[in-house]
Amino acid sequence: LHADVKPYILLVTVLEVIQRSTEFLKNKGVDSPRLQTELLLAHLLSMPRMQLYLNFERSLSQSELDNFRELIKRRSQREPLQHIVGSTSFCGLELAVNRNVLIPRPETELLAEQGWKFLNSLTPPHSPPPSTINHQLPTALDLGTGSGCLAIALAVRCPSARIIATDVSSAALQLAKENAVRHGVLDRIEFLEGNGFAALNSSHLFDLIISNPPYVPTAEIPSLQIEVRDHDPRLALDGGPDGLSFYRQIAAETKSFLKPGGKVMLEFGDGQAPLIREIFESQKWIVEAIMDDYTQRPRILTAHG
Ligand SMILES: C[S@@+](CC[C@H](N)C(=O)[O-])C[C@H]1O[C@@H](n2cnc3c(N)ncnc32)[C@H](O)[C@@H]1O
Repeated sequence: LHADVKPYILLVTVLEVIQRSTEFLKNKGVDSPRLQTELLLAHLLSMPRMQLYLNFERSLSQSELDNFRELIKRRSQREPLQHIVGSTSFCGLELAVNRNVLIPRPETELLAEQGWKFLNSLTPPHSPPPSTINHQLPTALDLGTGSGCLAIALAVRCPSARIIATDVSSAALQLAKENAVRHGVLDRIEFLEGNGFAALNSSHLFDLIISNPPYVPTAEIPSLQIEVRDHDPRLALDGGPDGLSFYRQIAAETKSFLKPGGKVMLEFGDGQAPLIREIFESQKWIVEAIMDDYTQRPRILTAHG
C-alpha cells in the first residue's frame, strides 16, 4: 500500500502551492499575498500569471518546489518582488531593477505621460526626418534618473526627443544605460554623473526638465514600509529635513536651463502640494497645474518660468 500511495503524497499542484504560500506570506504581513505568490510562481514557471489558472492541476517537480520555496522565503523577509524577479514594468516597458535604483512607481508613469505629451506637442506631426532639423528637436533633462524610467519612456514615446539623464549614483547610471540599450534608445539619451546640476553647463538648454526627486523627510525614513526602507536606495528617498531640499534647489537653479516656453514637471510626495507651490511661486515660477495620482492625491507639478 505504501508504495502505491507515496507518489500521490509527493505531488503538489500549482493550486495547492498557491494556497499554502499565500497563507504563509499573509502571516508574514506581506501585502496582497495571493497576487505576490502568483507573480512569483508565474516567474518561476516562465508563464504569464493568467496561465497559472489553466494549470491549477499541474504538479510541480521537486526542484521547482525547492526553487519556489526559496523565492517565497525571500519575499517573506520583505525583499520586494521586483528585486526577486529582477525587473518591473514602467509605461509598458520592461526595466531591470536592483538595489541601486528606486523601483519605479505607478504614479511616476503619469509624470512620464505628461512629459512625452508635452514633447510631442513641440514636434509637428508631418515634420521632416529628425536628422534634417536637428536644431528643433525637443530636448529634455531627467534629473535623478535612477533606473532610467522617465528618460527611456520619453525617448520611446517621443522618437524625435534628445534627452540628458543625470544621477549622482554611478551604479544607477550603469543600470539605466542597460535599460536604454534594452529599449533601443541609448543613441538619444546621454547619461551624465553629477551632484544636482553639476554635470551640466550653460550651453545645455531644455524644453522639459522632468524629475522625481527624493522627497521623504529624513526622520520619516525609519517608519517607511520595510520593502522601501530596507531595499530602495537611501539616496533615492532622502529629501532632507523636511523632504523639500531638492525642490528648493530645482526652483532656484533650473530657469537658466529652460528654453523659452520650456516647462518643469516634478513628482512630489503626498501632502506636499501646498509647500511645493509656495516654493515655486516664491521663485517667480508660474504654476500651470498640479495633477492628481490614481488615488486622487495631488502629486505632479507643471510650471514654467
Ligand atoms: C526618487 S529617485 C527617482 C528615480 C527615477 N527617476 C524614478 O522616478 O523612479 C531619485 C534619484 O535621484 C538621485 N539623486 C539623489 N541625490 C541626487 C543628487 N544630489 N544629484 C543627482 N541625483 C541625485 C538618486 O540616486 C535617485 O536615483
